Order: sequence, then C-alpha cells, then structure tokens
Amino acid sequence: MSSWYDAWADRYAEWSTGVADVPFYVGLAREADGLLVELAVGNGRVAIPVAQATGRRVVGIDSSPAMLEQARVRALEKGVELDLRAADIRELEIEEPAALIYCPGRSLLHLPTWADRRRCFERVAASLRPNGRFAWNAFAFDHHLAAAIDGRHAETPLPHTNHYSISDNRVDISLDDGGTGSLWWATKNEWLGLLDVAGLRLEALYGGFAGEPLDDNSPEYVFLARR
Ligand SMILES: C[S@@+](CC[C@H](N)C(=O)[O-])C[C@H]1O[C@@H](n2cnc3c(N)ncnc32)[C@H](O)[C@@H]1O
Repeated sequence: MSSWYDAWADRYAEWSTGVADVPFYVGLAREADGLLVELAVGNGRVAIPVAQATGRRVVGIDSSPAMLEQARVRALEKGVELDLRAADIRELEIEEPAALIYCPGRSLLHLPTWADRRRCFERVAASLRPNGRFAWNAFAFDHHLAAAIDGRHAETPLPHTNHYSISDNRVDISLDDGGTGSLWWATKNEWLGLLDVAGLRLEALYGGFAGEPLDDNSPEYVFLARR
C-alpha cells in the first residue's frame, strides 16, 4: 500500500503546523469512555496528544506506511503507545465497538467519490458503540480563497501550487519536489446525507474548533455525530 504521503511523510509535520484542532479532539477523547480510534492517523499529530491526555490506547489507521512510521517514531519519543494499523479507512474493522472515532486534518476529503465516503461512514457506524461519537472536520469550499490561490505558487508551509477542478470538486496540491495529492471538497448537505445513509445522527456542527457557530463565513465544518 503506498500513497502520495509516502513521498513526503518526513515533511508532513512542517505542513501541518498551526492547525488548532488538537484541544477539540482531546476534549472529545476525554469524554469518551471506551476505545478511541483515529481514522487517517498520519504522523500521530493528534493521536499522540490524545493518548497523552487520556492515558488510553488510541488505534490509528492509515494507508501510508511512511506516515505510520513517522507516527511510530514520534510516539516512541513522547513515551506513548499508539496501536497503529496499515489499512484503508473505507475498510475499517476493529475488534471491539469504539466510544469515539475521529478523523482530523480534513482527511475524509481524500476519499474521491460518494461511494468511497458512504462506505467509510457505514464502517464507522458499524464500528461504534450505541451512542458512540464520530467527529471530523473538512474545509467549506470558499470561492474567494479558490480564486486567490488557484494556479498560484506558494512558498509556505512547503513550496507548492494548487490547481482547482471545478467540475470534479477537486483541488490538486503539487509540492515542488514531491508529487501531487488531491482533495475532493464536499458541501454541508453531502456530509449530512452521509450521516443519514449511515444511520448516524448529527449532534453538533460548528464553524470552528472552539465551538463557533457555523455561519455564512465559516471556513471549516467541524462535525460531531452519534450512533
Ligand atoms: C492530512 S493527513 C492527516 C493526518 C492526521 N490525521 C492529522 O490530522 O495530522 C491525511 C492522512 O490520510 C491518509 N489517508 C488518505 N487516504 C486514506 C485512506 N483511504 N485510508 C487510510 N488513510 C488514508 C494519508 O496517508 C495521510 O496520512
């Protein structure tokens, strides 16, 4: 199993600095009385503070061996144990029902189609305890931002260029020295539709990680659902 992330796993930490989501996910983990599972765990950026804060085992699923290796090394450095598994989040299988499944870093946007996302949501629903929670975040498509950055080179956080496909609701991110990865943006109604078909219920939808209400200018969807 290999992915675009394998090519630059060692630079992901630099790419993801400044994301303010950790206290939100740590707070949910503290409230969860049972197994914690992070989908698309990457280098453990969120899973490590979650494990530190709760003192509990965190199962981390990811399809990139290089990202998982980053997570393993970083967890060792911090003295926490992560239960890291090389797998596809569309095929989620865990041995006991989870109290919390969460997916930070906009990672669900890497799943290209409705079928991929539906499969993932169905696996989440099947893997949660009754009343267990599912949380994730994703950017809300911002036409101002898209117009400003489409086709333009940017130096930070790593040198890269974004290209937008309007018809495929896709943005391709090409790193100057490391290939191209894609995100497929989704509307609020698509996310709500996924909850609906998976039999999950919406608990809250915020416009930011501090629980800001979603409004017309919110750049981020922060979803919390229950089985
Ligand atoms: C933006 S990183 C997020 C990492 C971490 N959750 C964070 O917030 O820092 C996205 C991760 O999703 C993983 N990924 C993408 N598609 C996946 C899939 N279908 N199954 C499992 N992992 C996937 C990538 O390998 C990468 O590690």
